[in-house]
Amino acid sequence: MEPGEYRPPGKKRRRRCLIISVVAAVVVIIILGVVLGVSLRPNTDELKQTFTDRCKAFKEYDCEKIWDVFVQAFVGKDPCNVPMEAYNPLIDAAPFKPACNRMMFWSKTKNVVHDFTDKRDCYVTLEDTLLGSVMDGLNWCGKEGSQEIFTTGCPGWTDCEKNPVRSFWNRASAAFADVACGDVSAMLNGSIATPFSPSSIFATIELVRFNSTRVKSLNVVLVTQKTEVTDCTNPSLKDLQKELDQGIKYKCTEVSESRIEACGADPQIPCGGCW
Ligand SMILES: *[C@@H]1O[C@H](CO)[C@@H](O)[C@H](O)[C@H]1NC(C)=O
Ligand SMILES: *[C@@H]1O[C@H](CO)[C@@H](O)[C@H](O)[C@H]1NC(C)=O
Repeated sequence: MEPGEYRPPGKKRRRRCLIISVVAAVVVIIILGVVLGVSLRPNTDELKQTFTDRCKAFKEYDCEKIWDVFVQAFVGKDPCNVPMEAYNPLIDAAPFKPACNRMMFWSKTKNVVHDFTDKRDCYVTLEDTLLGSVMDGLNWCGKEGSQEIFTTGCPGWTDCEKNPVRSFWNRASAAFADVACGDVSAMLNGSIATPFSPSSIFATIELVRFNSTRVKSLNVVLVTQKTEVTDCTNPSLKDLQKELDQGIKYKCTEVSESRIEACGADPQIPCGGCW
């Protein structure tokens, strides 16, 4: 044995101890790293998963490509400065197809209209299209100087005008209205004082895009409840008619909420026979 090779037993134990502590520290650091890494980027994965799952229901689209184009619209940008035009490439990547005579617009009747269109194939709302259904109910934003996607802490609908979610819905609504054709329907709320609200997306974005060269008529379905507040003589509906492109025929029908529900539940009632 060489003199330098001699190690007293105590030193050996101490060395083993040291090795164990180093290994433990490494394990703790790895675990911490995993936990931190996950908590820093959960939103991207979650949003992308929901996006992809919903997108895949529409088989004819390249969902991976649409996701990439979608992200470009807002990632790395001030979440109060994303104009609706930022989504132009997204609309180009997944264009809206005209569904003549079946297009249904709505304002303040979201639950009733979707309950109906989910059950019956009579009408198509924006939320029944690829982009509308993929983004429905979701929240997202980016941050200047960051590649992250956030789904919490984003500006709310009215916090600032040009937030990523609001601009998306404005842009998608515009694109949907741009392809409106034939007989177009709009479900408005007869339980409120102003069924045609001048600040609604329907008023500011959609109606103004209906063009008489493509849209033949607008059929307003005014959804009434037992305690009816407004009917088709409502002054706001006169404003609607003034806003409507000349040459588009206008009609308003009062339909009870229960009639719409019954219609949704009964496939025997033909689409045109609900109201
Ligand atoms: C109309 O608006 C009222 C008040 O916001 C709401 O309670 C009701 O559910 C709406 N009606 C429809 C058909 O969505
Ligand atoms: C409707 O479309 C025609 C032809 O594309 C265009 O010239 C006209 O300005 C449009 N009208 C409205 C109200 O947008």
